[in-house]
Amino acid sequence: MNLKNNKILITGGASGIGKGLAERFLKDGNTIIVCGRRNEVLEELKQKHPSIITKVCDLSVESKRIELLEWVKENHPDLNVLVNNAGIQNWMSIEEDDFFIRAKNELAVNVEAPIHLTALFIKLRSLSTIINVTSGLSFCPLTKVSVYSATKAFFHSFTLSMQEVLKIKNIEVIELIPPAINTDLGGKGIHDDAPPVHELIDAVFNQLADGKKTLTFGMSDKLSNASADELKLIFERMNK
Ligand SMILES: NC(=O)c1ccc[n+]([C@@H]2O[C@H](COP(=O)([O-])OP(=O)(O)OC[C@H]3O[C@@H](n4cnc5c(N)ncnc54)[C@H](OP(=O)(O)O)[C@@H]3O)[C@@H](O)[C@H]2O)c1
Repeated sequence: MNLKNNKILITGGASGIGKGLAERFLKDGNTIIVCGRRNEVLEELKQKHPSIITKVCDLSVESKRIELLEWVKENHPDLNVLVNNAGIQNWMSIEEDDFFIRAKNELAVNVEAPIHLTALFIKLRSLSTIINVTSGLSFCPLTKVSVYSATKAFFHSFTLSMQEVLKIKNIEVIELIPPAINTDLGGKGIHDDAPPVHELIDAVFNQLADGKKTLTFGMSDKLSNASADELKLIFERMNK
């Protein structure tokens, strides 16, 4: 991927890892569009970086994803990079009464939205790159976030297929696999002991500059390269 002069849509780009990607891509000379549900968070980012374009959009709703593509077609037909970053993480037990309702929402944001956005945005003639943000948990589930882990395993699998399938359209598909990182994912405080976003971003941009298509950092490097036996041991240790 050429790291300059792109027009990039980053879903969930106003906070956490998405914000880290947005700020770094902006600094490197790209035009950035971010979307998310919370207008106040988007506004805060816009005040800090007035050139960032923001769009309120709830990606869990199918019609809103279609509206987003229509808005891009009308206002940014030269968009060439889609970053499927938005995600939610529900810490819950299968015995809780609202388990299924929350699971459905997690599936809508983490699975339905990126596969639908992919199908929609490849219709843009200008699209040349898709970056999918999966997780180290794609490779080894954390049982306290069982549905989240499964959505990320799905998204990893889908990304592998798209890396092959979209070659015919000259669309490069890159997988960003973060390990635990200090953001508000899953609720404030849950990831406080994890490395800061800027360390992930520095590592990822070095790999992008080297032309890598699978971007890892720390524990996610270990998980994505582990043998079946190693994964079994890690699973037991993580879920004790
Ligand atoms: N932090 C980690 O430890 C970690 C590890 C591995 C993978 N990841 C992945 O990294 C990605 C970014 O997460 P993060 O850690 O940066 O957490 P975050 O700060 O909570 O970011 C998630 C973003 O997604 C947006 N979002 C959530 N639901 C949405 C919806 N229905 N429609 C539109 N936007 C929505 C949120 O914005 P609004 O709330 O305003 O909608 C927010 O900006 C996620 O896919 C996550 O699974 C994170």
